[in-house]
Amino acid sequence: MSKTIIVSNRLPVRITEKDGAYTLAQSEGGLATGLGSIYRDGNNVWIGWPGLEVTSTEDQARIREEMAAMNLKPVYLTQDEINNYYEGFSNETLWPVFHYMAVYARYEQSHWDCYYRVNEKFRDIILETAEPGDVIWIHDYQLLLLPGMIRAAMPDISIGFFLHIPFPSFELFRLIPWRAELLEGMLGADLLGFHTFDDSRHFINAVTRLLPINASANVLMVNDRAVIAETFPMGIDYDRYASMGNNHEVQEQLKQLKDNFQGIDMILTIDRLDYSKGILQRLEAYELFLQLHPEYAEKVVLYMIVVPSRDNVQQYKDLRDEIDKLVGGINARFRTINWHPVHYFYRSFPIETLSALYNFADIGLVTPMRDGMNLVSKEYVASRTHNDGVLILSEMAGASRELIDALIVNPNNIGAITRAIEEALIMPKPEQYRRMKQMRQVVAKFNIAHWVKLFMDRLQEVKQIQQSMLAR
Ligand code: G6P
Repeated sequence: MSKTIIVSNRLPVRITEKDGAYTLAQSEGGLATGLGSIYRDGNNVWIGWPGLEVTSTEDQARIREEMAAMNLKPVYLTQDEINNYYEGFSNETLWPVFHYMAVYARYEQSHWDCYYRVNEKFRDIILETAEPGDVIWIHDYQLLLLPGMIRAAMPDISIGFFLHIPFPSFELFRLIPWRAELLEGMLGADLLGFHTFDDSRHFINAVTRLLPINASANVLMVNDRAVIAETFPMGIDYDRYASMGNNHEVQEQLKQLKDNFQGIDMILTIDRLDYSKGILQRLEAYELFLQLHPEYAEKVVLYMIVVPSRDNVQQYKDLRDEIDKLVGGINARFRTINWHPVHYFYRSFPIETLSALYNFADIGLVTPMRDGMNLVSKEYVASRTHNDGVLILSEMAGASRELIDALIVNPNNIGAITRAIEEALIMPKPEQYRRMKQMRQVVAKFNIAHWVKLFMDRLQEVKQIQQSMLAR
């Protein structure tokens, strides 16, 4: 019986350690939910890093056993690998370049060498498990070399790859010293998926400019093997967010929010701490809004959740300090005895709290400088079961291609964000309903289950196309 092997840098569980004891907790992430029904089935398996260093071999074996019962297989990384592969090449080279922040990128040979070795480490663990006829679905920029490495060992196996972040234009991508190797790695897949048409176009363009490979539309011929690059905009678990409002805990928290913020309009922002998210620009826009509209004093709050992330990388540390400063400055400048204009939280929250906030907030403000998709914008929309509320969305987020009824803004245009905040605050209810209903239909239909099925079905088709081309 053939099986499906899912591979990503992180596993869909989080391990935490306290006084030498390890606990596993299911992740709430979109990918974990979407692929849950697949990896838990039969012999299927999800391979990835459990998210922290486990040094003792006894602990490693015990966790491996516990995970096997959950259809998970850990790839243990040493501290050196975490520094050079994860923080180094993945998040100090690929992440900034792919998000158009090339000035932040470092090009270190030692980071690249380690990235290569860790991709090999993933390959070796996959090869212990993979058999002819299996389907392997690899995710994201931490594992760009892996499709090619598996292809070399198993020429006929089915490999899908999905990139969750943007693929940059050629002029950015070409900056990376190891650009050709990265593309060759990706081309080991049979089907390459991207969130937007532009991402897949940029990828195809990079391949034809850098490698001796021709493209016919979105088909690339790699040594007689047809490789297809296509767009699959990722969705969310719509039903879960749409029905969370019925949850007792969510209702309790919602009641509390209503008590605490009576007569106040809430603007909600939720992000991982990341310079790609445009958090500073958004704060500047809100500050300008307060300056231009003193009549909104004590009538509006910016509720800002920033989830800690990659805090060993210098730019992330610096950003955290800058956010602290800016929030402090805005509150000091505009606060009154009864009112704080910004409520800022630097931590993660359970899904019940997020759901209560999505339900309560009058405005969802999502203004990344670059974002592959941005699922927060979709979670906000899915949660608005009364069809009211306004989404302000950056045109640089993949989601802006689908959520065209949002107020779409250029995140670099502080004035435009300020005006969008005002427009959202005074938008008549009928217009809110019309826009939100349209967006809810899109998010409901193109949900995560739909995304998984579309990708998996297409991968199967690509294999059939390849076989029929060989038979000719
Ligand atoms: C983005 C990436 C994911 C990554 C996530 C969290 O969404 O596309 O691959 O897992 O950020 O970042 P982290 O570095 O904590 O895994």
